[in-house]
Amino acid sequence: MAGISQQRVKICLVLCLVGIVSASTYSTSSSSTTSSGTSSNSLLNPLFYAIKCPQALGTIKTLVNNAVAKEPRMGASLLRLHFHDCFVQGCDASVLLADTATFTGEQSALPNVNSLRGFEVVESIKAALEYECPGVVSCADILAVAARDSVVALGGPGWPVGLGRKDSTTASFSEASSDLPSPFLNLDGLIDAFQKKLFTANEMVALSGAHTIGSARCLLFRSRIYNESDIDPSYATQTRANCPKVGGDSNLSPIDITTKHSFDNAYYTNLINIKGLFHSDQQLFSGGSTATQVKSYSTFPLLFKLDFANAMLKMSNLSPLTGTQGQIRKVCSRVN
Ligand code: HEM
Repeated sequence: MAGISQQRVKICLVLCLVGIVSASTYSTSSSSTTSSGTSSNSLLNPLFYAIKCPQALGTIKTLVNNAVAKEPRMGASLLRLHFHDCFVQGCDASVLLADTATFTGEQSALPNVNSLRGFEVVESIKAALEYECPGVVSCADILAVAARDSVVALGGPGWPVGLGRKDSTTASFSEASSDLPSPFLNLDGLIDAFQKKLFTANEMVALSGAHTIGSARCLLFRSRIYNESDIDPSYATQTRANCPKVGGDSNLSPIDITTKHSFDNAYYTNLINIKGLFHSDQQLFSGGSTATQVKSYSTFPLLFKLDFANAMLKMSNLSPLTGTQGQIRKVCSRVN
């Protein structure tokens, strides 16, 4: 017994230490700026709407909770929307701009088309906020808060979201096509894709834990379940049942086979059991250099949650538009 409690104390100490180190890392790197995507969050402030729209955060939370209660997968979809926003031009709601006859935005880029969901939930939050406080709360801030509230609604960690982002008047089809990581990447490719946005390999592994919730289409993991060898045979058989060799491209499978609606660390345990759905997921364990971290997250769920929260905070600070830059869109899918 004494041994076990001593071990617990040690783990707590390690977690506290990690927390302090992580917190200091992020606070010192928070005001740097580069061209390729950066944390320049000095102008973002969690209290930004405290006077101008005090009910904003409560409204977002209520509407996210309602949407997730109705359909748990919506939490995953809202989290992914924020990621796909921030990795292209920074967190500026560019991903929400719909294509028109004269404008091609990010939604038709390969990683997004027939894939991103949750636009109607974001739009309904925006409509509620426009009613409560017209012209005050940006779509980019709605995405950042909705992502955090989605994770919390599914049992994951929270983090303090800085606010005051403005919305872009532009979007980038080409950056969405090139900068969002593909599920066919090897470990080196994943590390490079995140390095481009100034994330370390460790942060990439932590952020990938988002795949503990949500679903994916057959065409994105077919080659893995039929051709790869680092896969549990019974898991492959089970997944093939809803993803035939030919056809059924849009059939869905949970990314985390064990607890698809729970934001826990089961994703990492699955990887150790060679039950990763995407080639890219399995690479975090099978690819070598990040396997130890996968094992740590599988053993210490709190460590994963802490690192995930810190990395999400960093992601949500990527190149925001602030001050006189950008605009507050009235409707998230189009510029004013
Ligand atoms: C590490 C590199 C990553 C790759 C290669 C990747 C790739 C993918 C792919 C291919 C899908 C399925 C899309 C579809 O079926 O149409 C997906 C789903 C998802 N991704 Fe990622 N992703 C990565 C990182 C992330 C990160 C950093 C987050 C968030 C922080 C995230 C959150 C999600 C979520 C929540 C889903 C499920 C969405 C839903 O059910 O609607 N992913 N990802």
